[in-house]
Amino acid sequence: MKKILITGGSGFIGTNFINFLSKKKIKILNIDKISKVSSPEKFKKIFYKNNYKFLKNNLDDAKKIYQILIKYKPDCIINFAAESHVDRSIDNPIYFIKNNINSATNLFHAYYKYYKLKKIKLFHISTDEVYGSIKKGEFKEHDKYNPSSPYSASKSGSDLIATAFNKTFGCKIKILCLTNNFGPYQFPEKYIPTLISSFLKNQKAPIYGKGKNIREWMYVKESCNAIWKVIISNKKFEKINLGSGIRLNNLEIAKKIFKIMKNKKLTNLSSKDYIKMVKDRPGHDERYALNTTVFKKNIKYKIKNNLYKTLEKTINWYIKNDSWIKNVNRSYDNKRQGLID
Ligand SMILES: NC(=O)c1ccc[n+]([C@@H]2O[C@H](COP(=O)([O-])OP(=O)(O)OC[C@H]3O[C@@H](n4cnc5c(N)ncnc54)[C@H](O)[C@@H]3O)[C@@H](O)[C@H]2O)c1
Repeated sequence: MKKILITGGSGFIGTNFINFLSKKKIKILNIDKISKVSSPEKFKKIFYKNNYKFLKNNLDDAKKIYQILIKYKPDCIINFAAESHVDRSIDNPIYFIKNNINSATNLFHAYYKYYKLKKIKLFHISTDEVYGSIKKGEFKEHDKYNPSSPYSASKSGSDLIATAFNKTFGCKIKILCLTNNFGPYQFPEKYIPTLISSFLKNQKAPIYGKGKNIREWMYVKESCNAIWKVIISNKKFEKINLGSGIRLNNLEIAKKIFKIMKNKKLTNLSSKDYIKMVKDRPGHDERYALNTTVFKKNIKYKIKNNLYKTLEKTINWYIKNDSWIKNVNRSYDNKRQGLID
């Protein structure tokens, strides 16, 4: 593989993925519209190198995307582009649905036309949230979709459009369902960065509802490894779940981060009083859990899941990257999003 087109490569996972690819001999073109939550391009290690190109462009025009494909001639496309913050989708459902459905459809359509000339694959990054909440057990790839938020509904829609394009036009869009990622470059309003910044400021961290909602946590650099292994594999599949198996509720995650930071004397908060419960998110899913048998059977890669070590790395990254935080915080007013009344 010589050239990759990445869409949404200025967001949290995209930035990590491009940093990951920068160690390989591959040319990269990143198309991103640059939204409030994007990581500024200047913070990418690869930004000034010859094998990297960035194009500030909204995926709202299929013709334009097709022209870019014809000019750039990628060997593979990876679509990270989406509005992705659940709380923001509650405040702005129409914008989320329009953006996520239209951008994916435009990309798929341009890809389909390009596919007639060059038989490449498109990897569409999706989420465990499309399946909705599960009390016990795990969701498999072909379980039915049951989204709860405008965000997850828009992601579900784009997944269904991907499978429809495969059926109707015979192209090769592969869907990768990821779990909750954490690590460097995650926008400050997300849960783990909020915990870290609150504890650093000796402020109690806000936790939604009773804090019992369970998420499956995966270190973003490990996701990048796993995504890459899927991309280079020749196995036939239309959809694949990609999870760590590490399932913890929000109180448990807060406790782990607090303990690490307390042990390192990074916070003065008392171990008896470091969180505050706040109003729950409307439609808050109770538990996510992905079955990853398909990945384990087909992809030669064992996902590493050392939660302690990766949380420690994440805390260190946020401490060391104050200039990045100050930069992205300019577009973040620290206000609680997604409350209906
Ligand atoms: N972060 C997670 O924990 C997680 C978990 C599962 C799945 N995902 C999925 O992975 C993908 C990446 O997630 P993320 O956390 O990096 O999201 P993010 O919000 O940090 O980044 C998304 C990027 O896509 C860009 N984008 C959005 N709409 C666009 C458009 N119309 N044209 C061009 N660029 C556009 C944004 O500007 C942004 O830079 C998303 O599709 C998300 O649904 C994320």
